[in-house]
Amino acid sequence: MKTIVTMPGDGIGRIVLPEAIRVLEKTGFKADYIHGDIGWDCWCKEGNAFPEETVKLLEKHRIGLFGAITSKPKDKAQAELRVELQDKGHVYYSPIVTMRQHFNLDICIRPCIAFPGNPLNFIRKDKVGFVEPEVNVVIFRQNTECLYCGVEWTNPPDKAMEGLCVHPKMKAFKDVAREDLAISCRIFTREACRRIITAAFEHAKKFGYKSVSVCEKPNVIRETSGMMLSEAKKIAKEYPGITVWDVNIDAMMMWLTKNPEDYGVIVAGNMFGDIVSDGFAGLVGGLGFACSANIGKDCAVFEPTHGSAPKYEKLDPPIVNPIAMILSACMMLDYLEETKKAERIRKAIAEVVKEGKVRTYDMLRLKGGPDVFKHGAVNTREMTDAIIEKL
Ligand code: NAI
Ligand code: MG
Repeated sequence: MKTIVTMPGDGIGRIVLPEAIRVLEKTGFKADYIHGDIGWDCWCKEGNAFPEETVKLLEKHRIGLFGAITSKPKDKAQAELRVELQDKGHVYYSPIVTMRQHFNLDICIRPCIAFPGNPLNFIRKDKVGFVEPEVNVVIFRQNTECLYCGVEWTNPPDKAMEGLCVHPKMKAFKDVAREDLAISCRIFTREACRRIITAAFEHAKKFGYKSVSVCEKPNVIRETSGMMLSEAKKIAKEYPGITVWDVNIDAMMMWLTKNPEDYGVIVAGNMFGDIVSDGFAGLVGGLGFACSANIGKDCAVFEPTHGSAPKYEKLDPPIVNPIAMILSACMMLDYLEETKKAERIRKAIAEVVKEGKVRTYDMLRLKGGPDVFKHGAVNTREMTDAIIEKL
């Protein structure tokens, strides 16, 4: 039997994760769940948001379900740290970024597939009236490199400056006062590019998508974006029938509301993948529906893309939508080759959404708060119950 490390984290992560497990259990999926601490409380108590015990659990079991964490700016992080730990050199790092890098979870998959009947689906005005384009996009985001690699300085040291000044374009900055200079490096490696592109093409082939769009900006960011595009063109040769499109990220953000139905699989580096996946998520229901997978060579973690929504964490009964978390659990089932169970859950969600009788506050476009029930919203558990009912 599989052992799954459950990391609810903070805020609504603790609310939605148990809901996903309820659904998993109802499908007959058998697993042991073992709890791992992560997030803000761990930081405040131990000075480490991703405790060693949780790292060890993941090292052992290699599969995780993650809720959400809270993170706060530097000064707040220091202020909330336990008094005995203050001034001991603890620095807050995002445990998710650390997890992705430590376990080399380099492939991030973010499906943005509309459920028919979702009142949050994007609607476009056409000559004939209003139409609802069929959005069915899967974004493959490189998850460990790019601007997130952490190689950055304000007030860069001499040696870094010396190295950078080898480049003629650096002349423009050489007279800027060092403390007024901030530099973040955008690093791509060929191997990581090839892995994310191959994953994207494999997915396109398996699920019959006709195109893979490389969403970068190679005309300006010639080296990194250029590497992603040129590798994609090479790899495409192994996938006849699937076209490579070169779509600049800025143009993509415009096209996505003009013709989102024309896109299939999208591949991008870390930063642009983050942006384009939020853009598409907005067309298919937003944070209550946005699921994701972080997959490495021998370890994978599944999580909704929303955060801990602290303003709702104390509401009882809870109001937030559990669907993003439940869809993330479906991605875990896919990964474990339990695709039939995953499909059953997705079908149950589709039925609930289409019927339209059971909707959380976000689906009704209500302002979140304790009175959403008066306006017809169901609570988190009732949404899960409705999905389970359809199973
Ligand atoms: P957030 O995603 O937590 O919430 C933004 C808003 O989206 C909420 O106020 C709520 O209106 C809505 N929302 C989020 N999840 C929802 C759900 N399941 N159902 C219905 N509505 C939902 O982002 P925010 O407010 O920017 O950040 C709050 C905290 O979460 C911060 O500390 C931030 O650092 C952290 N965060 C963590 C992430 C993660 O764990 N992966 C991702 C994004 C933010
Ligand atoms: Mg994001």
